[in-house]
Amino acid sequence: MITEILIRYLHFVSIFVVFAAVLGQHLILRGTITRARVAVAQRFDIAYAISVVLVLATGLAQWLWIGKPAAFYSSNPVFHTKLTLFLIIGIVSIYPSVFLGKNRKGEQSEEVVIPSALVWSVRVELLLLLLLPLLATLMAKGIGIPVVD
Ligand code: HEM
Repeated sequence: MITEILIRYLHFVSIFVVFAAVLGQHLILRGTITRARVAVAQRFDIAYAISVVLVLATGLAQWLWIGKPAAFYSSNPVFHTKLTLFLIIGIVSIYPSVFLGKNRKGEQSEEVVIPSALVWSVRVELLLLLLLPLLATLMAKGIGIPVVD
């Protein structure tokens, strides 16, 4: 019981950190910024990476270990949509991560132009992240499970 509560709690807290980290990047990454600011954005990226791993681990635990049987989720296309969006967010986030890694080093007062594709990548991540709690709530209620007659 305690384990289940702890895992569910960690799932939520790590989701908060993921969203906060991407929002932090969104607020920093625009126009032309100094390398020092790029380094700050990269710290958000590290927080993002750690919390995404926690979201995944606690999500997998709820799917395969604690709570309802795994089949409750596995048979639901809403759950598969949630996983697919999570994967897409991960793929989209590769571009900002690589860019920040490449541009944080060097003279800290030097200016770096943030490509608009990068700004849009972060926006897309935020938008997709906003959809996931809705899908999670639907799947938790069993909405989407095919009716067998
Ligand atoms: C940023 C990504 C994610 C977000 C925003 C998110 C959001 C949520 C939310 C809000 C709930 C609670 C639903 C409720 O009780 O009404 C939840 C539960 C759950 N999540 Fe996630 N989740 C994410 C990633 C994942 C991943 C990657 C997996 C699977 C590998 C996963 C599997 C689950 C499972 C199995 C539950 C339990 C649902 C239930 O109580 O029946 N989640 N998630």
